[in-house]
Amino acid sequence: MNEQASRIERSRTRITKLVFPQDTNPIGTLYGGTALHWMDEVAFLTATRYARCQVVTVSMDRVDFKVPIPEGAIVELVGEVVRVGRSSMTVNVKILQEDARASTQELAIEGTLVMVAVDEAMKPVNLD
Ligand SMILES: CC(C)(COP(=O)(O)OP(=O)(O)OC[C@H]1O[C@@H](n2cnc3c(N)ncnc32)[C@H](O)[C@@H]1OP(=O)(O)O)[C@@H](O)C(=O)NCCC(=O)NCCS
Repeated sequence: MNEQASRIERSRTRITKLVFPQDTNPIGTLYGGTALHWMDEVAFLTATRYARCQVVTVSMDRVDFKVPIPEGAIVELVGEVVRVGRSSMTVNVKILQEDARASTQELAIEGTLVMVAVDEAMKPVNLD
């Protein structure tokens, strides 16, 4: 495994959450804005682990909401760096819905974010 592949492997991030009533919309399923917040959080952690410096979100390219996630569900967010540029990283984020009784997971939401490594002056820095 080369150095970049190893960094990608080590930066992969998983967060498990329970969908509480305050996370839902009026029909009792996970609110889209909450999902986007959670996706940004896991992308931020993933990119920070890759870059080991300050990162900011520069773009949220596309998010597909495939199946509704009901209140009370267990969800797992998985972030993975899929492209590394000069200062930017593209992070794929999946939200998997888990059936607690059957221990199976279904892909519910997927999206891609671009994160940029920056210095204290908010200037992009090279990822070496
Ligand atoms: C991130 C930021 C410093 C980049 O500044 P910039 O002047 O666009 O810098 P550059 O043109 O050199 O671009 C830097 C990198 O970002 C990428 N980038 C910039 N805008 C992008 C966009 N909309 N989508 C995808 N990539 C983008 C560039 O392709 C470049 O990638 P590379 O270095 O891997 O080749 C600036 O856009 C910024 O401060 N944005 C606000 C970030 C923010 O507040 N986020 C919310 C809070 S976390």
